[in-house]
Amino acid sequence: MGGVGAAAVAVPFVSTFQPSERAKAAGAAVEVDISAIQPGEKVVVEWRGKPVWIMKRTPEQLAALEKIEGELADPNSERKAYPTPEYAKNRHRSIKPEVFVGVGICTHLGCSPGDKFSPGPQPSLPDDWQGGYLCACHGSTFDLAGRVFKNKPAPDNLEVPPHYYVSDTVLLIGEEKQA
Ligand code: FES
Repeated sequence: MGGVGAAAVAVPFVSTFQPSERAKAAGAAVEVDISAIQPGEKVVVEWRGKPVWIMKRTPEQLAALEKIEGELADPNSERKAYPTPEYAKNRHRSIKPEVFVGVGICTHLGCSPGDKFSPGPQPSLPDDWQGGYLCACHGSTFDLAGRVFKNKPAPDNLEVPPHYYVSDTVLLIGEEKQA
């Protein structure tokens, strides 16, 4: 009898535990405190098994976004394959100008691009490089707003996941703000 009683107690525990595991797999939203990220730094969090980058751009890095717009395939994020949320349809592709939130997966074949934040000539990059990301798999390049350069294998800008600010310094990644 003792064994049956223990099993009866265990069932409710398991059934309350399972939904949260399912929710995680389905992509529960992720809360991130961004107050410690310094200008010029990027952190990576995981959402739905994907790396999500949070990059705090310096004033110089923000200014550079304008300089290279003529070299971008979709500077205004108009393509539909990875629709950019309305709140990120701007030059910096973000809610707060300095804070970029993007999925760090190349829109070509899914590699994760590497950080190439230092401007200037360097291997695999043009001499007028202003800082951004390089996908080493097939050479696609992205600016610091995740916008892809022209004539690269990647067809689209990096995805901007749904997100909003819960407070001035806390982001919720994976959900849109309810009106
Ligand atoms: S996967 Fe990035 S360039 Fe091919």
